[in-house]
Amino acid sequence: MNEPLVLGIETSCDETAVGIVRGRTLLANVISSSVEEHARFGGVVPEIASRAHLEAMQPTIQKAIKDAGVKLTDLDAIAVTAGPGLVGALLVGVGSAAGLAIGLDKPIYAVNHLAAHISVDYLTHTEPIDPTIALLVSGGHSSLLQIDDITSSITKLGQTIDDAAGEAFDKIARIMKLGFPGGPAIDASARLGNVDAINFPRGLTTSNDWNTRPFDFSFSGLKTAVARYLESVPDYVQADVAASFQEAIVDVLLLKSLVACKESGIDSLVIAGGVAANSRLRALAELRCAKANVRLRIPTPGLCTDNGAMVASLGALLVAAGRSPSPVAFDADSSMPVATISLA
Ligand code: KG4
Ligand code: ZN
Repeated sequence: MNEPLVLGIETSCDETAVGIVRGRTLLANVISSSVEEHARFGGVVPEIASRAHLEAMQPTIQKAIKDAGVKLTDLDAIAVTAGPGLVGALLVGVGSAAGLAIGLDKPIYAVNHLAAHISVDYLTHTEPIDPTIALLVSGGHSSLLQIDDITSSITKLGQTIDDAAGEAFDKIARIMKLGFPGGPAIDASARLGNVDAINFPRGLTTSNDWNTRPFDFSFSGLKTAVARYLESVPDYVQADVAASFQEAIVDVLLLKSLVACKESGIDSLVIAGGVAANSRLRALAELRCAKANVRLRIPTPGLCTDNGAMVASLGALLVAAGRSPSPVAFDADSSMPVATISLA
């Protein structure tokens, strides 16, 4: 089966998302987000997210089927995010996917949300992705990975020791009253600012850090530095703070990614996850990778944040590689390790 038709369901956070792919071709990508229901709380409220998933699930599946121009009975497999994420939210997707798989008598692939973020790049670029270094930056995770085979071998090189990169964007945006989620708001404000206006700290980049934990990240010191600056300079220029803060994050992410490429001898970098939609990260990555002779791949911005196409994409890759499907009765795993690509 070279071009499997796979439907993917994603409910790990506040997006009820269903994607359909045929091999590497995207046929449908429908997203129903409950983000507005969470905005006034400044973060995702798990109970609200779970209920919103239940309400949105059926219409989202139906719209995806219609957009793709296929019938449910045409599907070769169902894929679903089994973790990591909010357990109540994950369970809605897992239950729906299991119901579909049993009803249609099709195999189910319980996949890792983080591997799915990376595999979505297959829908944008056609060359093989692996081996590659991957920088995975989202609201809940920030890690540097070595991907030898996206369907069977992911090794973690390092990760954040405190906040995730997206979380840092969200927290600083909240302090600056820019709204939630904060990443897109800071990205927009920063376009008008000076990246060199304020010299904010770059976490874990002392020579000792480079020796002992070269591929780990830390953003909490940066967060504190920005908060202090905002307090001590009441008439701060919002765009300059946004640009300088964003630069401190982007700079460290790329520094460490390129050292990982150099040390592993792998001249390929994939950047994935919600923060990969950041315009400064994308632009600076292009400049620095060109200079370092590293092949850079970043999914189109719309596929960086949570979606169902990424789950379907990983499902299709697993089917094509002949990997075993998951047993129908599997559990959602809110803290699924990144090296677990799917539950077999
Ligand atoms: O991957 P994602 O959609 O959900 C998780 O798996 O967490 O990532 C969401 C995160 C949020 O923290 C959001 O602020 C951030 O990605 N984000 C951005 C941008 N767009 C989304 N951060 C910086 N710049 C952006 N343009
Ligand atoms: Zn995500």
